[in-house]
Amino acid sequence: MEQLDVLIVGAGAAGLFCAGSALRQGRRVAVLDHARDPGEKIRISGGGRCNFTNLATAPDRFLSGNPRFAASALARCTPEDFVGLVDRAGIAWHEKTQGQLFCDGKATQITRMLLDRMKGADLRMQTTLNGIRHDGTGFVADTSSGPIRAARLIVATGGKSIPKMGATGIAYDIAEQFGLRLVEPRAGLVPLTFAEQELVLCRPLAGVSVEAEIRHGGARFRDALLFTHRGLSGPVILQISSFWRPGETLLIDLAPDRDVAGDLKATRSGAGGATLASALGRILPDRLAAAICDQAGLTQARLADQSNARLEAVGARVNRWQVRLVGTEGYRTAEVTVGGVDTRDLDARTMQARKVPGLYFIGECVDVTGWLGGYNFQWAWASADAAGRAG
Ligand code: FDA
Repeated sequence: MEQLDVLIVGAGAAGLFCAGSALRQGRRVAVLDHARDPGEKIRISGGGRCNFTNLATAPDRFLSGNPRFAASALARCTPEDFVGLVDRAGIAWHEKTQGQLFCDGKATQITRMLLDRMKGADLRMQTTLNGIRHDGTGFVADTSSGPIRAARLIVATGGKSIPKMGATGIAYDIAEQFGLRLVEPRAGLVPLTFAEQELVLCRPLAGVSVEAEIRHGGARFRDALLFTHRGLSGPVILQISSFWRPGETLLIDLAPDRDVAGDLKATRSGAGGATLASALGRILPDRLAAAICDQAGLTQARLADQSNARLEAVGARVNRWQVRLVGTEGYRTAEVTVGGVDTRDLDARTMQARKVPGLYFIGECVDVTGWLGGYNFQWAWASADAAGRAG
């Protein structure tokens, strides 16, 4: 039977980077993946331009049962280290906003760079991992092209998000088989869906976008919010979705920095025959302003006729919109899986299972989930490098 030093399962961001790091330790390395091409999520990431890191990377940009777990790996493989590789590969990039670095050209340049970095490792695509066992001296992987023995087995098969792209959740099965605990996986960075009652009111708003601020579960984000046919999306919703649990109410400020009731009162005196909807339309997109007035039964109402109490109620609807969302769009569209292999059962310096020498978990399958904005790739690089370099 074939014998390797390191077998990496998963040729995504973490697996490919790990192979390059393990090769530098002089090891015999193979990477296998059931997909046709490596780095499929890299290819579609960042709208095709791959938001490959974030300059503001710090442990507090990640959700995890142990918020300090990621610190060691992140400190030893930094955004600047990755940018150094990108520069040496001659890949042009730019900072979009808030430290988010994107390729100027196609995301596939990043995959090409990772493949160049792991030249010398054996890459086996269209090879499925069906299961693993330990035979007393090493791991035996049962694959669609036969068994492979390896002293170290590195699980880089990602989470459950986007099954259509090959996500399987097999990492969780392997973790449980070897006695590691799991933090229940759930969809993250995902659009949220309304209850039927809200849907009727909000469906006509599909396509409307507005800058919003949301505080929830100790997190606070401000970015674009998008109404969809099913609920809410846009960066601010994706961010908060990782902190939100089904049934929880969100408090959304649809006009941050504006005291809407105060502004409406101030314009009321010289308003003449202007409608409330038109006054609100100076603060919010017209369709949203009209929908809020319709819902309050104030479609044609003149601003000049409104009492303070009524304007305060409208202001509260904008600055403190309480909305009950019932679910998420699920793994079908989720950018990541929150939860995963419990960090209490992994060594933070190497990603090795504490009680199973030679077994490692890296990337998205671990209970470390970044905010939107390049943090998840930075975690993939950092955790991969920690495992690849482990002595
Ligand atoms: P990843 O999912 O990349 O790779 C796992 C690999 O394992 C896959 O190739 C899969 O085929 C393989 N596999 C699974 N089961 C197997 C089995 N049984 N046998 C063999 N192979 C198996 N993040 C970011 O930082 N910036 C961004 O711009 C984006 N953009 C983005 C857009 C979209 C649409 C999505 C869905 C996600 C993002 N992300 C992102 C998140 C990012 O893509 C994600 O965090 C990383 O790809 C995780 O890397 P991994 O290598 O851990 O898993």
